[in-house]
Amino acid sequence: MTTATKSKSADEVSAQKLNEKFSDRGKQISNLQSYYRLHAMVYDATRWAFLFGRKEVLRRLPPAAELLAATRGPDANAKPGDQAKAGPLRILEVGCGTGVNLAYLARKYPEAELVGVDLSGDMLGKARAKLKTFGDRVTLLEEPYQAGGNAGTNFDLVLFSYSLSMINPQWAEVLDQAKIDLRPGGMVAAVDFSDSKYLSFRHHMSRNHVMVTGHLLPGLRERFAPVLDVERGVYLGWWKYLIFHGRRA
Ligand SMILES: C[S@@+](CC[C@H](N)C(=O)[O-])C[C@H]1O[C@@H](n2cnc3c(N)ncnc32)[C@H](O)[C@@H]1O
Repeated sequence: MTTATKSKSADEVSAQKLNEKFSDRGKQISNLQSYYRLHAMVYDATRWAFLFGRKEVLRRLPPAAELLAATRGPDANAKPGDQAKAGPLRILEVGCGTGVNLAYLARKYPEAELVGVDLSGDMLGKARAKLKTFGDRVTLLEEPYQAGGNAGTNFDLVLFSYSLSMINPQWAEVLDQAKIDLRPGGMVAAVDFSDSKYLSFRHHMSRNHVMVTGHLLPGLRERFAPVLDVERGVYLGWWKYLIFHGRRA
């Protein structure tokens, strides 16, 4: 072991090991697709027990007029219909899974256009059934979210709900891409596993394709100006989850 490695904290070493584990991108994507082939069937019935904060991150989002004013410019003399001319609110969810968040957002923002991207066809199958009622306001794409993808750009809001911690090791590139795909003034919203001091928990989660090494909040804060920045412990401190709203400069 080198002196440099010795001087690293247990946390850093663990993060490095997990990053190495996830370094084969092609394998990582096919592993996730196989994982969700089974989990898609029970996903909506089971995740309430540990994916905390999903409702809160959506409930605390500002009204449409506020999101639009931040991206299209406030206009004190705006006449009714002017915002419509600027186009509807555009929302992207990265890793939309079974579509539970998109359904909430489609109701909360009845004029919005929504795009959901997910690499699992099985999860998207569930989403398609759930979102039929919203017609062509919702577009679903089966692909990994990355530069050169089909998600489009000029979004007012980009949501990551328990997807960032599964995008390894590309989570930083993906946040940079979200920044590009957001309009200036646009908002990123994220909810996810944040950290755990228990290495056994970190390793357990890595077997489920999730990296819980305290990397996400600093990555979000570095790229987006925080509007809401919360970290909470659960199950007597087994892990912490994060809720974040941040603005693109
Ligand atoms: C834990 S689920 C979260 C689903 C949903 N957002 C929710 O809150 O219930 C994570 C989802 O992210 C998707 N995912 C993981 N990596 C992805 C990537 N690079 N691009 C797009 N989707 C991805 C997975 O297929 C899975 O459906």
